Amino acid sequence: MSRAEALAAGRGYLRNSQVEAANEDARLLLLDACGVDPVALVTDGGRPLTEPEADRFATSLDRRAAGEPTSRIIGRRPFWSLDLAVRAGVLDPRADSEALVRLAVRIANRSGAPPRRILDLGCGSGALLCALLSEFDGAYGVGVDLSAEACAASQANIAKCGVGDRAAVLRASWCEALTGSFDLVVSNPPYIRAADIAGLDREVRDHDPPLALDGGEDGLDAYRALFAAVPRILSPGGAFAVEFGFRQEGDVARLAAVGGLRKIDSERDFSGRDRASAFAVV
Ligand SMILES: C[S@@+](CC[C@H](N)C(=O)[O-])C[C@H]1O[C@@H](n2cnc3c(N)ncnc32)[C@H](O)[C@@H]1O
Repeated sequence: MSRAEALAAGRGYLRNSQVEAANEDARLLLLDACGVDPVALVTDGGRPLTEPEADRFATSLDRRAAGEPTSRIIGRRPFWSLDLAVRAGVLDPRADSEALVRLAVRIANRSGAPPRRILDLGCGSGALLCALLSEFDGAYGVGVDLSAEACAASQANIAKCGVGDRAAVLRASWCEALTGSFDLVVSNPPYIRAADIAGLDREVRDHDPPLALDGGEDGLDAYRALFAAVPRILSPGGAFAVEFGFRQEGDVARLAAVGGLRKIDSERDFSGRDRASAFAVV
């Protein structure tokens, strides 16, 4: 079977399995199975698949049809301008989180002085930290996560993105182990209400770790902890930018105010939903 025929068959199989982005997922899985770039698929579509390529493509299609996200099957995901490694036990970074990066970059640029110390609380794969370090090449970054798997994933992506000489990762709960201050603090904490987790799409529920999703009874536990702790580690004039879920903007701003922070800016995601807000000490 040629690459073009395999692609058509793969798309049909995923469509029949009710996979939403069947066309694009089949393409990404075939590129991965053949180890080629997108151009080769177009220019060399008549080339037959080797047996190992065909086996790998078939296995990947079965995994996708069973609900495993494509990024987890191929082990990578584009984020911001970067190509990140994705691994089991760690949140698969989402394109929507680029809203938080856009916001953080905007407020940092507006402040007149690029941030020298950046902190990512709940760094997961290291997506936010790597993106911000790639934007501010004079900055040093710290990532904190409670999960050992997330800390290892962050370390690996920091090295992959070429910012390993400007970053450190710490396994701890939020700010408990931190000393010193930071000019820019970001966080995309767990914010799903505990009762809603069972009803999430299987791609999320069965593959993203509970520690990355579960925000407690009202989804806001992490924000309470963060807004109580972050003001004491913000540099004078520093900013704290957070991501949140659908319709959480008001609650998040209220909790920030309780912690002595005022909102200075916000950003929407690709669907036009409020997704991130930035705060400064009152
Ligand atoms: C929604 S994920 C965000 C991951 C990454 N920043 C991103 O945007 O893709 C939340 C992260 O917070 C971490 N986390 C949960 N509770 C934590 C705590 N008490 N202290 C530090 N990290 C925590 C989880 O392990 C997970 O990696």
